[in-house]
Amino acid sequence: MDSFRIQGGRRLAGRIQIEGSKNATLPLMAAALCTDGQITLRNVPCLSDISNMARLLRELGVEVDGDCGTVKMRVMDHNQVHARYDIVKTMRASICVLGPMLARRRRAVIAMPGGCAFGSRPIDLHLRGMQALGAKVELNGGDIIVTAPDGLKGATIFLGGPNGSTVLGTANVMCAAALAKGRTVIECAACEPEVVDLANLLNKMGARIEGAGGPRLVIHGVDSLGSADHTVIPDRIVAGTYAVAAAVTNGDVTLDEFPYDGMLAVIDRFNEIGVHVELIGGHDDPMHGTVRVTSERILKPTQITTQPHPGFPTDLQAQFMTLLCLAGGNSIITEKIYPERFMHVAELSRMGAQIYRQGPTCVVAGGAPLKGAPVMASDLRASACLVLAGLAAEGVTDVSRIYHLDRGYTQMEEQLNALGARIERIRPREVAPALGQVVEMAASSEG
Ligand code: EPU
Repeated sequence: MDSFRIQGGRRLAGRIQIEGSKNATLPLMAAALCTDGQITLRNVPCLSDISNMARLLRELGVEVDGDCGTVKMRVMDHNQVHARYDIVKTMRASICVLGPMLARRRRAVIAMPGGCAFGSRPIDLHLRGMQALGAKVELNGGDIIVTAPDGLKGATIFLGGPNGSTVLGTANVMCAAALAKGRTVIECAACEPEVVDLANLLNKMGARIEGAGGPRLVIHGVDSLGSADHTVIPDRIVAGTYAVAAAVTNGDVTLDEFPYDGMLAVIDRFNEIGVHVELIGGHDDPMHGTVRVTSERILKPTQITTQPHPGFPTDLQAQFMTLLCLAGGNSIITEKIYPERFMHVAELSRMGAQIYRQGPTCVVAGGAPLKGAPVMASDLRASACLVLAGLAAEGVTDVSRIYHLDRGYTQMEEQLNALGARIERIRPREVAPALGQVVEMAASSEG
């Protein structure tokens, strides 16, 4: 398994461009199952999760041309309906083939995703949505079998759960309802920009979806969907991560393709902390802005509570924890989406961070200097937080298991090195050829 060796304490400066969004791309790719036409996606990031989704779609009878950049997809065979456990266990987001497959093939068999690195991840809301549209749901041998032999019928569906709405659940119900008979209302729909991007693609394909970006979606079912060409939105989590990288190194970094409009809660917290994210370009289309990130010498502590969009995203909680380790005072972070998503706390503590956790809340006592140490990545965003800590720390930090990072950041070390960081990717053969180790990539499915 690859690791990163990071020489800390270098100030970042320069300019990079934010890549396309992983979490937008995955359901957009799955939407190719909704049509016999060709779906062309542009600005697709080069990530292992995207390759896994391409592999899954190929197994489901879709011809997929390209793994990143421009990806073209067309269904060749509608007979395959089984998303097998070997793929689902490597990528939870495989669940987003459920709605498209049910809509078009009237049957979907999907291995039940298990828990993940940060706790239980139920899919009850996805299944409730499918049942409301008239599907039957059974569990057999670890597979969920969802069938609708007579087709789906529009309905009114409430998608709120104990922690708010569900992003991929909304995507699934939206795809299924787009091809159902009649009108569907989704109440408490997820409002994330990635859901809006999917609605935009489906509407280009001929769907009739109104209200995307708000909590109530109205979908008028159509008989069939056609071809479309679509450019994926930039990744707000990657954008936030690189903005934190600038801040923790007291840098001066310009980020192009910064989805400013989808990040207002994040920018609000940056302002509180004393990190300036100034929109210097793209004012007429702030989902594709250019920002300059600089920070005050002494950062201020703050409070952060993760929430569904437009609140502060859980996917930036770990990265902000690193930032708040450097603030002058106590900060409070409360995780309301995944109350167990704190695997990074123990690793940050190995680097000298003073963090006290009680249930879903952490007090971060900022100001203690971070010191380089060997640390282990446990999931995608926790890995990013450790790399950021390595950039800010004195000395050398080795972050192991960075295959997690490759799921969500395209060549992060190259991007950060272009800004002046010193990060070396160490491959197992380079580390221990004499041991003749064969190291398998562990299964991971938190995305
Ligand atoms: N939930 C339920 N029942 C369900 C589904 C979800 O109770 O049927 C709960 C979850 O346990 C959680 C909350 O609802 O507390 C929100 O989960 P959601 O379903 O929205 O998560 P998701 O759609 O499976 C996506 C992202 C995650 C991101 C979450 C929340 C993708 C591929 N994944 O997951 O991204 O954390 O939304 O914003 O879009 C990541 O990129 O690192 C990542 C984990």
